[in-house]
Amino acid sequence: MSKLNKAIGGYMELELPYREQPWLDGALKYNSARSAFVSLLEQLNIRSIWMPRYICDSMISAVTRQGIQIYFYSINQNFEIAENVTPSRSTPLLYVNYFGLCEPQAQEVINHFGPDSVIIDNAQALFSKPFDCLGTIYSPRKFFGVPDGGLLFTKYPNAQPPKIRDDSSINRMTHLISRLSGGPESTYAEYVRAEKEIGLLPVMAMSNLTNRLLGSIDYDKSRRLRARNAKYLQKILGKKNKLAIELPKDAAPLCYPFYSNVQTLSRAEMIENRIFVPSYWTEVLSRVTEDSFEARMVTDVFYIPCDQRYQIQDLQALVNLFVPRA
Ligand SMILES: Cc1ncc(COP(=O)(O)O)c(C=O)c1O
Repeated sequence: MSKLNKAIGGYMELELPYREQPWLDGALKYNSARSAFVSLLEQLNIRSIWMPRYICDSMISAVTRQGIQIYFYSINQNFEIAENVTPSRSTPLLYVNYFGLCEPQAQEVINHFGPDSVIIDNAQALFSKPFDCLGTIYSPRKFFGVPDGGLLFTKYPNAQPPKIRDDSSINRMTHLISRLSGGPESTYAEYVRAEKEIGLLPVMAMSNLTNRLLGSIDYDKSRRLRARNAKYLQKILGKKNKLAIELPKDAAPLCYPFYSNVQTLSRAEMIENRIFVPSYWTEVLSRVTEDSFEARMVTDVFYIPCDQRYQIQDLQALVNLFVPRA
């Protein structure tokens, strides 16, 4: 007699819905976006790449760790490439769809350099579709409470997912579970530890746990709420924003980047008021000049959350506190 593949009986699991996730069709599933990225580079035998100075160190170190050479480029205030770059199939260019607000720029990069010379980083743009180019990568945990995970869509027909599957995601669940019943302060250290751990993992396939959690999300509802929230923030803050944010219809960005031309709370005052906004990305300052646009994006821009957790009243309260004369 052979054993059953599916256990029957025993204790119950955490109750989560199963939902259709058509947006995942065709995705190669990894343990992080950086893994998806370096795996694509390795499979295409790419030894050098153009990357923006304005990007997190996690992507830079993942690439340098593989001995791949990086040529850097700068961006201008419209998030366009501001330098003479010469990408090719053997030295492609990575363009970041910043905050999920740069779809037109990403498409323009592909049109200009050709689909075989470009990889798009949609880590901040979960709700942007994969582009017709060498590859598009995603990092779902920036949009949903999952412990890790990365996605790759590629037109390269022989791309293979990794053979070894990550089974350590359960060690990165504490802050997610704790957040169900309280604020972010009590397990912030756990979150930091989990993020650090992701940086130490080798390229692996997405864990079964992360895959199952992703299978339960309400993609369409989250998208709708984000789009509504971003539109609201643009309506009340757009005129006070030095960044010329174009919000395409239904754009569901990572956050609302706000470079204020009026007095706001300082970062320290925000934390005192329990407003926690990220910085993108302090490490960039070591790669750019003090007077560059990229430096302003690090030091002067606030990244206001607009995700599915917030109602309009929440955002109204935040803006009233943060920009008193908005
Ligand atoms: C623009 C961008 N690309 C890629 C990544 C890497 O994503 P992951 O942490 O899933 O490897 C990040 C964040 O770390 C990011 O901000």
